[in-house]
Amino acid sequence: MPPSIALEALNPDHTLELYRLTEANREHLREWLPWLDSIRSSQDTRAFIDATMAESAAHGAPHFAIRCDGRLCGVAGFHALDTQNRTGSLGYWLDRQHSGRGIITAAVAELVQLGFGECRLNRIEIRCAVGNTRSRAIPERLGLTLEGVLRQCEWLYSHYVDHAVYAMLADDPQRHLIDSFRRTTCLPRS
Ligand SMILES: CC(C)(COP(=O)(O)OP(=O)(O)OC[C@H]1O[C@@H](n2cnc3c(N)ncnc32)[C@H](O)[C@@H]1OP(=O)(O)O)[C@@H](O)C(=O)NCCC(=O)NCCS
Repeated sequence: MPPSIALEALNPDHTLELYRLTEANREHLREWLPWLDSIRSSQDTRAFIDATMAESAAHGAPHFAIRCDGRLCGVAGFHALDTQNRTGSLGYWLDRQHSGRGIITAAVAELVQLGFGECRLNRIEIRCAVGNTRSRAIPERLGLTLEGVLRQCEWLYSHYVDHAVYAMLADDPQRHLIDSFRRTTCLPRS
């Protein structure tokens, strides 16, 4: 049976669960995400949640906890929305034990719909390190267009990485692909 996936707007009630999940995945996430050294206690996770909630209140840039069969298993959301230009950039990560089941693909499909719908965006971007094959598979599966490579645009602990930039526009014909990957329940935002 396919897993039941739900998105919950990140809020302070997620703090402990999210901190524990981060701890359990520290080495796995460190390969591609630059912020692991800034999360050393549950207070750091709480500060991250507070920042995402403030951003959401200011610009409507929601960040979600992902639950699979009731268990917190990852995070996905808009880093920030540029309301002037109606663009947004998506980020995500998943517990290693939950990988390979299409959970992030479904969560990102839901967020793309939310971005073009409720958030009224015209352009949604996903940037992935060029060597991050599993991450790049998400925008590729969902039909975003590879627009180019930003050279050495991120410092990852000890070295620079290049980013592949993918984007979809509100009137892109490939947008119809998104619907076939949506299978999350989007819970009311708190
Ligand atoms: C990037 C990351 C989120 C991808 O996780 P993932 O498990 O590969 O992604 P999904 O949950 O969408 O699962 C996709 C896999 O499930 C399979 N799958 C099964 N059912 C599926 C379905 N209904 N729909 C889509 N894919 C499905 C796909 O074939 C794919 O497996 P494969 O890679 O072996 O072919 C994860 O590797 C991660 O957290 N990495 C570290 C952090 C990171 O890099 N974040 C991104 C920074 S840009």
